[in-house]
Amino acid sequence: MRRLPPVLLEDGCPRELISLIRTVLAACKEISFRVGQGALSGVLGSTLDENIQGETQKKLDVLTNQLLKDILLESGYVKAIASEEEDFTVAGNPDANYIVAFDPLDGSSNTDINSLVGTIFSIMAAPEGAVPADPSIFMQPGKNQVAAGYVLYGPSTVLALTTGKGTRFFTLDKTHGTFLLTQDFATVPEETSEFAINASNQRHWQPAMQNYINDLIAGDTGPRGRNFNMRWIAAMVGDVHRVLCRGGIFTYPTDTKDPNKPNKLRLLYEANPMAMLIEQAGGIASTGTERIMDIQPDAIHQRVAVILGSKNEVETCLSYHK
Ligand code: F6P
Ligand code: MN
Repeated sequence: MRRLPPVLLEDGCPRELISLIRTVLAACKEISFRVGQGALSGVLGSTLDENIQGETQKKLDVLTNQLLKDILLESGYVKAIASEEEDFTVAGNPDANYIVAFDPLDGSSNTDINSLVGTIFSIMAAPEGAVPADPSIFMQPGKNQVAAGYVLYGPSTVLALTTGKGTRFFTLDKTHGTFLLTQDFATVPEETSEFAINASNQRHWQPAMQNYINDLIAGDTGPRGRNFNMRWIAAMVGDVHRVLCRGGIFTYPTDTKDPNKPNKLRLLYEANPMAMLIEQAGGIASTGTERIMDIQPDAIHQRVAVILGSKNEVETCLSYHK
């Protein structure tokens, strides 16, 4: 089976970018091991702290963030990093050409129930002459990403990766510590009968999304004339992985539950990398009114509405928003 570096070299991916991706993956291999140890390593449960976004930090949030941060900054390949668990961007090597935004452990509330979690990352080129300490180097739309991916820590550890030449899956061979190519050019089926929502929020959504989901739930007795199934893992990384594997529509739409937080998912290290993976596999990723990867960010932890997945189903959902 083919290893990750030769596959990317054949695509013409710059060596420095391959080295950076391998650096991210070095941290992810260690995270895979720690997560797999579960209660044996004493890392389950919460800390007493909250992150800047007011979320309780799990011990594994802190540990995985530190691992990625240390390994990336030590490597010399990054000019700066942005993380869900860091209040501000962190400066790296002034001579480096890339910046990385990451969610070190997406779905971390799943750790205590031995369910799916993963690391999401987004890589962009640092603007010419940029200063590492300047957070505005991250204020680039997602279409500027040169690579994006996630590592899903499930029954097997799977990497979904794109460098703009399609989306591929690699599986970690835990005996040898190597990511091996297990699926070239994943494609999201255009049609689907499966949707992923946190249904407990439905009454707080805008009318367009409520109407759309009501029509799915009405099944063969409603305007869609066929039945739909629902799946929800409560970790975006797990839900997006399912969509990439067998199609579906995933949405975390705008809601009015908390007026200070109309959207849940973060643009830089959740929505953008997932949008690139989905688009590279033939799917669509939108906020309901615009393509996610066209959004010009104005804050590191900015949140957006997300609707992504199978082309025809996302288009149907968007038609309710017109
Ligand atoms: O990172 C945010 C996140 O954990 C996503 O992975 C997930 O889709 C969502 O929040 C689940 O949140 P909730 O359970 O509040 O709907
Ligand atoms: Mn997350």
